Amino acid sequence: LENGLGLTPPMGFNTWNKFACDIHEDLVKDMAHAMIDSGLHKLGYQYINLDDCWQITRNETGYIVEDPNAFPSGMASLIAHVHDLGLKFGLYSDAGLRTCAIRPGSLGYETKDAVLYAEWEVDFLKYDNCWNLGKDLKTRYQTMSDALNATGRPIFFSLCEWGEQDPATWARPIGNMWRTFQDIRNDWNWILSCLDYNDKWHQYAGPGGWNDPDILEVGNGVLSIAESRSHFTLWALVKAPLLLGNDLRNMTSDIFEIISNKEVIALNQDPLGIQGNKRLSMNGTEVWAGDLSNNEYAIVLFNRSDKEADIVAKFDDIGIAANSPFFVRDIWMHKDLGIAHSGMVSAKVASHDVAAFRLKPVFPPTLRGKYHNIA
Ligand code: GLA
Repeated sequence: LENGLGLTPPMGFNTWNKFACDIHEDLVKDMAHAMIDSGLHKLGYQYINLDDCWQITRNETGYIVEDPNAFPSGMASLIAHVHDLGLKFGLYSDAGLRTCAIRPGSLGYETKDAVLYAEWEVDFLKYDNCWNLGKDLKTRYQTMSDALNATGRPIFFSLCEWGEQDPATWARPIGNMWRTFQDIRNDWNWILSCLDYNDKWHQYAGPGGWNDPDILEVGNGVLSIAESRSHFTLWALVKAPLLLGNDLRNMTSDIFEIISNKEVIALNQDPLGIQGNKRLSMNGTEVWAGDLSNNEYAIVLFNRSDKEADIVAKFDDIGIAANSPFFVRDIWMHKDLGIAHSGMVSAKVASHDVAAFRLKPVFPPTLRGKYHNIA
């Protein structure tokens, strides 16, 4: 969507994965403060997104009302608090009669809701597809997109629809991101399904509109450190929204180290905005890669198998033109590995883990070819 937003994938926090309907204004404030105090905001995380269950009814004039037990100070005041910290604020609604958790939805109230969100100074809207009465999908999403646009306030528009029609093929003019699969679960194999479905649509992502394999599960227990590292690295490579789904007040240093890796975040926030994708797959090992700006590349060696594996990525085999030698940097070890002379990178990768590299051409593009045979 050309509303000036989402030129790189959004980064922030969403309440759903960890807290579901167990939300309260104090919790939201705590997350906002934790985002600042932990230093995550400085690394690019900026949205504090409140998911389903904040709304309770409509008033006699048709305006949506926040649950007074959970938000006794009112939504406007909570949002002002989040803004005062220098963060942005997101809300959730639904293009149907009710939300997925059976709270009032926005169908038929799109203009009133958009106007109120803008008045509250909302920065982001996640828009779901439950209770839609079988009415035309694109029309319902277009109506809210237009209503948000008409407010004059830039509001990032996140489509939460994956089942009825493949949104990657039509949602770009309507929204800034669109879901590509069912709700993520805190389960390794399920997370890989989210990743694989999302990969099909890689050519549709770009500045202004991103594929969304759903909120992160890093830090919610269950996943091992290797699995958490793989989940985060692959989400970053495929330009997924980096919306944290864990309790930011309470993280181990291992988890913090994963979500605060600047070099991995830089793959996600690269201005070229090309979604990395799966290039090779062999015996449970995979090579994922993506183009970055300035003729740089990212390569992720991913071991899905149950045993440690040696993974080799020959540039020729994964669509990386080896017409210049590359400097190679390991972005998990934070180490320069020198020049890749043999046209490949390789690593021993533990089960369910990744190795990730950033490649930078030794010669600028104008000198390519001329020095072709040097390396
Ligand atoms: C749907 C969405 C989830 C979450 C819930 C809230 O299941 O896909 O991400 O927003 O609704 O009810």
